[in-house]
Amino acid sequence: MLFEDSHPSHVLKNKNILLGLTGSIAAYKSADLVSKLVQAGADVHVIMTESATKFITPLTLKTLSKNPVSIDLWEEESDWHPGHVELADKCDLFVIAPATANTLAQFAHGNAESLLSSVYLVNRSTVLIAPAMNGKMWDHPATVANKKTLIERGHLFIEPVDGMLACGYEGCGKLAPVDHIFKAILTQF
Ligand SMILES: Cc1cc2nc3c(=O)[nH]c(=O)nc-3n(C[C@H](O)[C@H](O)[C@H](O)COP(=O)(O)O)c2cc1C
Repeated sequence: MLFEDSHPSHVLKNKNILLGLTGSIAAYKSADLVSKLVQAGADVHVIMTESATKFITPLTLKTLSKNPVSIDLWEEESDWHPGHVELADKCDLFVIAPATANTLAQFAHGNAESLLSSVYLVNRSTVLIAPAMNGKMWDHPATVANKKTLIERGHLFIEPVDGMLACGYEGCGKLAPVDHIFKAILTQF
């Protein structure tokens, strides 16, 4: 496997990974993912939705990624070139982990209301989506249809797993283990 054959601190060297975080209880797990990616040499830029900031602080992700964290479409501080276009243009891989039902719907329908969904539309690199949600939300025909649309568009899914969900239900909807997501990212390079 790629990871075993290469030095961990070099395996993602010069790779620019854009990581979208959305408003799921699993958002805290992304801190670990960012840390692993940075240790593997990747340049990681995090975009959070407003909802994601209710679950984990931008400061944590800024510190771990060693890069500014972007949240608000209207507060971009770069030069004349809109930051969201630049983020998308530079990235080698666009990962959304965790991805909420709402964000899947926005992506499927081309809704560009948030910074994250705007970047999604500008991005042309491979999209890797790791959903996390209540099992009933995951099974709902609306979510199933959105997932189908995104797969038909060529995006890759890291399926959620069975387990005890934060809402108290047991079922399928738990974010895939961070190691699993990390390995899926490695296989893209
Ligand atoms: C405590 C709590 C946990 C939540 N966890 C999830 C979740 O795991 N998955 C999900 O799809 N929505 C979850 N939600 C609902 C989303 O936060 C909500 O739909 C939000 O609008 C998502 O916005 P975003 O996609 O822009 O991040 C949760 C809400 C609360 C209050």
